[in-house]
Amino acid sequence: MSLREKLLARLLAAADFVSGAELSGALGVSRCAVWKHIEALRDEGYEIAGSPRRGYRLLKVPDALYPPLFSPLVRGKFGRPYHFYPVVSSTNDVAKELARQGAPEGALVVAEEQTGGRGRLGRAWHSPPGGLWFSLVLRPPVSPAATQSLPVLLSLAVTDGVAAFPLPSVEVKWPNDIVYQGKKVGGILVELGAEAEAVHFVVAGIGLNVNITSFPAPLEKTATSLQKIAGEALSRPQLLSAILAAAERYYSCWCREGFAPFREDYERRLCLLGREVEICCGGSVARGTVAGVDAEGRLVLVSPDGTKRRFVGGEVTFKQKPRQTLRPDEDKAEA
Ligand code: BTN
Repeated sequence: MSLREKLLARLLAAADFVSGAELSGALGVSRCAVWKHIEALRDEGYEIAGSPRRGYRLLKVPDALYPPLFSPLVRGKFGRPYHFYPVVSSTNDVAKELARQGAPEGALVVAEEQTGGRGRLGRAWHSPPGGLWFSLVLRPPVSPAATQSLPVLLSLAVTDGVAAFPLPSVEVKWPNDIVYQGKKVGGILVELGAEAEAVHFVVAGIGLNVNITSFPAPLEKTATSLQKIAGEALSRPQLLSAILAAAERYYSCWCREGFAPFREDYERRLCLLGREVEICCGGSVARGTVAGVDAEGRLVLVSPDGTKRRFVGGEVTFKQKPRQTLRPDEDKAEA
């Protein structure tokens, strides 16, 4: 913990004013140094009352993911240890490096802003301040092939976290886009450190447009944020802790039982079900109606000639057609 974090932790723990003398004694620095850090915190958006006789009192905290604010909200092992950066190129890159150095499962990297955020299919990921940009280190005891359904699973945890707020429901767009009325709210980039037979680590990077009020022109049409949906800002520390709790619960079941127990729940939140789509995968394009996902989290597409095909990855786009819902048992026959 840095000196600033220790100071903040003291102020957070106190219900009233804390004197400058007490803070300087507890932190082992001069009262002048305490004052400088108080000023720096004020610059970051903390409202701190100051009184010459009584000291300092924390009145309001910003929507910040600073460790002393966030760490107390971590209940399980996802989120420990917690690495926070005001600015970083990509939390996935930092998390991969930490994983290579032996970081334990649950280690979390969070950034206020990413300058080189990465999305799926080699795309850039717009990551200004106000979003949730984070990466989790995982060490699942499964084969590399079995990790295919992990991003699909994590998208469920993200929608659960969002559901903890009074918001209209967000949906998932296979494999792991979080969408609202067709616009993208978030996405997941899972990267593997593995050999042919063994997974050394997985880095699950999650990006959510939370308190973002505007997007650059090319994204304005395709992206939205939770703040825009809700009409007000959301607490990112609370949202992050809700996502982590759901992710940890789902993940421990997934390690034992795979994706099958989550299949129906995922399909309920899938905005593609019964829709006519095109899927672009490895240079070829397939067209058909989405019947759902299978027990491995693969997308099941029914071609116009009635044949079923399964996809492990790809880019799905809607074709203009009315919603058509397939009977749930149609797919089970082949699953
Ligand atoms: C997608 O293309 O939908 C996936 C986007 C994933 C973005 C997140 S933000 C945190 C983590 N760091 C990155 O560079 N990417 C992921």
